[in-house]
Amino acid sequence: MSRGALEVLPARVRGRFRPPGDKSVSHRVVLLGALAAGTTTARNFLVAEDTLRSVRCVQSLGVPVEVEGPVVRVAGRRSWSQPRDVLDAGNSGTTLRLLCGLVSGQAVEAVLDGDASLRRRPMDRVVEPLRRMGAQIEAREGRFAPVRVRGGRLHPARHELQVASAQVKSALLLAGLYAEGCTAVVEPAQSRDHTERMLQAMGVPTRVVPRAGGQVEVAVQGPSELQPLEVRVPGDFSSAAFFLAAAAAQPGAELVVEDVGLNPTRTALLEVLQEMGAEVRVEDVQEVGGEPVGTLRVRGAKLRGVQVGGSRIPRLIDEIPVLAVVGAVAEGETVVRDAAELRVKESDRVQTVVAALRAVGVEAQELPDGFVVRGGVLRGGVVDPGGDHRVAMAFAVAGLLSQQGVVVSDPECVAVSFPDFPRWLKTLTAT
Ligand code: S3P
Repeated sequence: MSRGALEVLPARVRGRFRPPGDKSVSHRVVLLGALAAGTTTARNFLVAEDTLRSVRCVQSLGVPVEVEGPVVRVAGRRSWSQPRDVLDAGNSGTTLRLLCGLVSGQAVEAVLDGDASLRRRPMDRVVEPLRRMGAQIEAREGRFAPVRVRGGRLHPARHELQVASAQVKSALLLAGLYAEGCTAVVEPAQSRDHTERMLQAMGVPTRVVPRAGGQVEVAVQGPSELQPLEVRVPGDFSSAAFFLAAAAAQPGAELVVEDVGLNPTRTALLEVLQEMGAEVRVEDVQEVGGEPVGTLRVRGAKLRGVQVGGSRIPRLIDEIPVLAVVGAVAEGETVVRDAAELRVKESDRVQTVVAALRAVGVEAQELPDGFVVRGGVLRGGVVDPGGDHRVAMAFAVAGLLSQQGVVVSDPECVAVSFPDFPRWLKTLTAT
């Protein structure tokens, strides 16, 4: 095994698991809290590379933020100050895109940048609609980071998105907070709605209207002042998904996932696993800080292949790498379609997932908007996750489900969303 690689041998998942705080909600606590009239406090905040990028960026904009273990305090203010340096979002699309909207309405000039992966991801999807609101914003070659924003007066607009994207929707709604009147975003399908829920909890009039054909319209009324929050961040369903999927696909495995966020705009993986024949029970659902939270009980079974596409895709977009791994040990074919968005994530996930499946002895084929996996036996091998945290963790799970084990080279990227993943992997396979 090379230095720094993660070797995962076949093992059965058993035990109780408490996922770390939700990444999307943690980002929003910092980014929305930074604009509130007072101090926002959150417990169970995700301390990870991505969310700490949001913390450092708002600190550079003159907003005091304290992170003490899993507690974050954000001393919000309406007017931010001129940053001295480039705002570095690292690997985090959420940080960069949401800040484009937020900075557009502030009297500052800022350059937002990121790592090599983020610099390859499309930013025109936020830059162009923000321009329509009067923002002075420019991206490299019109579409990539670095993005330069000269904040100023914004006017409201109605935006129709080509793809469902919570990051784009959020950036535009947040820009709408500065504009006088109604800013609306129409999505072709429902994407995660954490921003809408948090804005509502912070006292911003927010309207959500389902439209024909699965479209959803969200509107905010500006100018709006945000009230500070005191919240507990739910456990991250997307981090839980790795162990959930591993347990679901292993006859004899048993797992209880506690304190996990069950926002329906995030949990389509549960329906898909059930369709594949998994035994998953949802219990004790309660509303905590405007988000549903509960317990999941999973018993492993031999699963069947599944076809996934359409409006479900945005509700399981981050779980597709691990779904591919589950498909590899299921009976028959698993087909994912309508998921071209995978190609513009932290890596081109169609390509990285298919290459990784082949590296562990599974037959798989790329489609323009997804892939086909031929289920059966997962032999094992060495996988390069291409610096993509979710691919690294999905293929650590592949090791558990394999015949001979999987070595994930370059696993440090898991720290982007789930720094404790290797420790939980040991704990949950110890017996
Ligand atoms: C996120 C939205 C999703 C998701 C990402 C986090 C968010 O991206 O893939 O990991 O926090 O809003 P898109 O909105 O681009 O689909």
